[in-house]
Amino acid sequence: TVLVVDFGAQYAQLIARRVREARVYSEIVPSTMPVDEMLAKNPAAIILSGGPSSVYAEGAPRLDRTLFEAGVPVFGMCYGFQLMATALGGTVDDNGAREYGRTPLTVSRTSSTLFEGTPAEQSVWMSHGDACSAAPEGFTVTASTDVVPVAAFENDEKKLYGVQYHPEVMHSTHGQQVLEHFLYRGAGLKPTWTTGSVIEEQVEAIRAQVGDKRAICGLSGGVDSAVAAALVQKAIGSQLTCVYVDHGLMRKGETEQVEKDFVAATGANLKVVDASERFLTALAGVSDPETKRKIIGREFIRVFEQAQLEILQEDGPEVAFLVQGTLYPDVVESGGGTGTANIKSHHNVGGLPDDIEFELVEPLRKLFKDEVRMVGAELGLPDEIVQRQPFPGPGLGIRIVGEVTKDRLDLLREADAIAREELTAAGLDREIWQCPVVLLADVRSVGVQGDGRTYGHPIVLRPVSSEDAMTADWTRMPYDVLAKISTRITNEVADVNRVVLDVTSKPPGTIEWE
Ligand code: XMP
Repeated sequence: TVLVVDFGAQYAQLIARRVREARVYSEIVPSTMPVDEMLAKNPAAIILSGGPSSVYAEGAPRLDRTLFEAGVPVFGMCYGFQLMATALGGTVDDNGAREYGRTPLTVSRTSSTLFEGTPAEQSVWMSHGDACSAAPEGFTVTASTDVVPVAAFENDEKKLYGVQYHPEVMHSTHGQQVLEHFLYRGAGLKPTWTTGSVIEEQVEAIRAQVGDKRAICGLSGGVDSAVAAALVQKAIGSQLTCVYVDHGLMRKGETEQVEKDFVAATGANLKVVDASERFLTALAGVSDPETKRKIIGREFIRVFEQAQLEILQEDGPEVAFLVQGTLYPDVVESGGGTGTANIKSHHNVGGLPDDIEFELVEPLRKLFKDEVRMVGAELGLPDEIVQRQPFPGPGLGIRIVGEVTKDRLDLLREADAIAREELTAAGLDREIWQCPVVLLADVRSVGVQGDGRTYGHPIVLRPVSSEDAMTADWTRMPYDVLAKISTRITNEVADVNRVVLDVTSKPPGTIEWE
């Protein structure tokens, strides 16, 4: 395992992903973890991430220098580089030598461990205030910039390396190569971590955890629950029952994808609960977005628990486990706790015996999203599931501005299917993070079609580009694709006579309209 020590500011997750792209397993630890605890994990190498602080700032995160004396290869990046420099007796000046953004780097030794085979001039991403002016004793300076005399240093004997820049970001043109040189040449690691090995390891762990008991998994139609279920299915077969609640708010073809394609690919036991009538009834007369969300959430839990109860009452071994598609970023962001949490099913809504408690099975806890997709593909799940874009739990219920009715849902499903079909045909599925299609059910406008006047509803297209849905920008997509979608929707979907494009970023607009 390579440990990535997190000095804050979100660089650590990216570094951990880059290490895994190099096929070496990595884990993130907080910089507050004592060094002996880090070393007790027996790491094959340690990477110190960048961070927002100056090493001279009061309260800036520190690192005990024993870390550098344990014989474990260490690679410091940005803040980590400066910590390393100061800890080992180099000089870091607080002299206002700031660099920010894309910066030319001059490599003085292209035959070094880190820079072997990379060009003498390369572009790197800088983000720092202080600058290293003298490397610690025993280190060779291997790169510099106009502003920073020591932008990289290496000590092959002690296996200690550092760069002032951020090799993990895309703008550092040879960053991945430099990182791989540290891992393979500096630390002597082999690229052996593959999705195949993840699957094997997880299958064994799941079998050991579940034993001969049974497990339940809720499928949402999303990537994470589908891959988690497929992995558990591979491990324990018929001891797993999947539950899919059809709330009637899914897009065209999505329920069929779960009912047919997922089952065909995995052979899983699937219990489908068609609750669309129930949801429609509960949503009747409701236009307020938060109320809609609450109703959908509440009904969902009720239906899911009823299904659980039915499974509990079937003959067979005890049902003791609930499968969840928790991913590594959730684990890191919630403090990285390693214990297995127990979840008590919300039985305040009636039906479940007081004493049922499930233990969680979370086979994706160590994986990033892109790795989850790879595992899914390797397990034989179809692309439509594995490459699926984000879709909100409350579904089309929050994409109809106004009351949700069966007719409106059918209309929106048609419009959405056309938009998705054309976006896919135009090859835009990767560039676009997601494209909500929204029906303004309470708005009507005048149009003309054939010889007649129409008085119909507008459909909004909301294509956004994003990294993580926290912020987003509207996608500058080709006009001809927009034109095609607009023409098809107004021709093919009754009661829609206008298509409009949402050109708002997030913030201030959210991605969804409700
Ligand atoms: P907003 O609209 O807040 O959406 O910018 C951010 C991301 O979250 C998705 N979203 C949801 N996902 N349950 C979900 O599972 C929800 O209730 C929900 N609401 C929004 C949205 O599609 C976008 O990807």
